Amino acid sequence: MDPVRNPYAPGAGQRPPELAGRDRELQQFDVVLERIARGRPERSLVLTGLRGVGKTVLLNALRSQAIGRMWGTGKIEARPDQSLRRPLASALHMAVRELTPRHRDPDRVDGFLGVLKAFALRSAGNDAKLRDRWQPGIDAPAATGRADTGDIEVDLVELLVDAAGVARDVGVGIALFVDEMQDIPAPDVSALCAACHELSQQGLPLVVVGAGLPHLPAVLSASKSYSERLFRYVRIDRLDREAADRALVAPAEDEGVTYEAAALDALYAATEGYPYFVQAYGKVTWDNAPTDPIGADDVRMAAPEAEAELAVGFFGSRYERATPAEREYLRAMAALSDDTHGVVPTSDVATYLGRKPSSLSPARDSLIKKGLVYSAERGTIAFTVPHFGIYLRKHATV
Ligand SMILES: Nc1ncnc2c1ncn2[C@@H]1O[C@H](COP(=O)(O)OP(=O)(O)OP(=O)(O)O)[C@@H](O)[C@H]1O
Ligand SMILES: [Mg+2]
Repeated sequence: MDPVRNPYAPGAGQRPPELAGRDRELQQFDVVLERIARGRPERSLVLTGLRGVGKTVLLNALRSQAIGRMWGTGKIEARPDQSLRRPLASALHMAVRELTPRHRDPDRVDGFLGVLKAFALRSAGNDAKLRDRWQPGIDAPAATGRADTGDIEVDLVELLVDAAGVARDVGVGIALFVDEMQDIPAPDVSALCAACHELSQQGLPLVVVGAGLPHLPAVLSASKSYSERLFRYVRIDRLDREAADRALVAPAEDEGVTYEAAALDALYAATEGYPYFVQAYGKVTWDNAPTDPIGADDVRMAAPEAEAELAVGFFGSRYERATPAEREYLRAMAALSDDTHGVVPTSDVATYLGRKPSSLSPARDSLIKKGLVYSAERGTIAFTVPHFGIYLRKHATV
């Protein structure tokens, strides 16, 4: 089939040609937006799931929904060891700029921008040399006396309350999207929860929508006990058979190409409905199929190339980020895990490697920090990357 017309899109955050199987989440968020705009109490969404299931893509789709309702929006990708202050200031700046042309009182908007600037400038510390100071690019003089104490919790609560006030003047809200939310440093995650709590108590129209790995709910509850009442955790999972078929068939149909039923059987057997795998196999199968319709043989012929691309782009790039000690840990997990769940007791890893559990904690902790594994329950460990165990058993020898 003509590779130029290949519709599939494997890749981190790549918008799929068909966003299959996520209608319920999109509908839920529509209700959230409507209720919050009316000042009704509502929990925001936090999307959790393994690598490559489509969290980033869904987060972007939710953002489009908010933009469609004329809300101000901004997005952050959290990183370990990076304070929220700068990225959050930039995201909020963007959100408010979308609202400014519709605001009747430019002085009030400028007032908020001054508070935002003071908040942002706090990231450099008062005694930082001038050249080390980060310039937030906000066109207003920094205000004093609000969101500028240096205590992230106090400042964030004041800042988000003020931002929501500006949105309310315009009759809309602000939605802030936080990807890789599990990576926010502990004091900042606690501050963010506190701010969301305050916003919901005051019925103010600002929502924080998060996405992250499966242990994100545990990170949030460890931070503030009331976080379960602030967020609705939505597990984003692999696609069921019907949705996976639709993800493949709908984009092909637009190009006048069809699949034989046996080809779809073979594709689901290979991908198990994991969205990243669906796109990767769809792409290679399309390129290798000589004629329409695409048949089961075409899938079989394409499989080695699809696997090779995943080995490099999806698995290998992650494995390479691990140090030798971490790789040893990963390979032990792979040897001990079954293919469906991949949850392993940490004590088994230690026994397998003939080591004391405490001597393995540094490797385990840094793998968690790198987002390669997570601990769903105390004493257990699991891969964040689907099929990682299969990949490691096949390929990883060093
Ligand atoms: N609902 C869907 N239907 C079809 N394809 C999808 C769907 N969701 C995501 N994809 C595809 O899956 C791939 C991975 O998506 P995405 O990067 O959003 O995953 P992720 O969960 O954010 O992964 P990571 O944890 O690595 O950041 C992309 O190629 C995307 O096009
Ligand atoms: Mg992502």
